[in-house]
Amino acid sequence: MSKILVVIGSGKNGNTGHLAQSFIKGAITSGHDVQKVILDNIQGCIGCQSCQRNGHRCVIHDSMEDIYPLFKEADTIVLASPLYFWSISGRLKSFIDRLYAISINDEYPPKNTILLMTSGSNGFYAFEQAISFYRFYTKALGWLDKGMVLAYGCKKELKHHFINEQYLKEAYDLGKSL
Ligand SMILES: Cc1cc2nc3c(=O)[nH]c(=O)nc-3n(C[C@H](O)[C@H](O)[C@H](O)COP(=O)(O)O)c2cc1C
Repeated sequence: MSKILVVIGSGKNGNTGHLAQSFIKGAITSGHDVQKVILDNIQGCIGCQSCQRNGHRCVIHDSMEDIYPLFKEADTIVLASPLYFWSISGRLKSFIDRLYAISINDEYPPKNTILLMTSGSNGFYAFEQAISFYRFYTKALGWLDKGMVLAYGCKKELKHHFINEQYLKEAYDLGKSL
């Protein structure tokens, strides 16, 4: 049994949350301890460096205060995001930037990591920039990639969302396989 933290850079009940939920179901089936956070109150890093002088505490008071302890405990960090202008969402980027607070000499705690994403587009190139960024920051943070699920062509209307079943199954299977 391992501890998994699923970080969702999207609103409640969206496509990305739906994909993440399938992953969570699979992970729970395999007996993992899963925590989920929705980044609905997160500010970007302001680069003040206070954290590096002040016991690795961030001066910004928002939901990251609750997330840091969950992050520390987790073996695996699952990053879930909609594709926004060919990249991850701003809130997920803020989450990654805010991890700077707990870095020591630019070193981060070792973690396994997984990427879950949804896009409106069906184009094969849709996730290219996001994957490239994922590869760079996992390397920079020293994390170990454990897989990704990229759900193309997700539809979204006011109260309805649609993700091809194939992607939901992929996410479930990935969660179960851990
Ligand atoms: C601000 C914004 C930017 C988007 N940019 C893209 C994009 O560059 N490419 C794409 O395929 N879809 C894009 N989309 C569509 C979303 O990626 C897609 O609808 C996603 O499944 C929404 O996830 P959510 O329901 O979790 O918010 C964008 C949507 C929004 C709101």
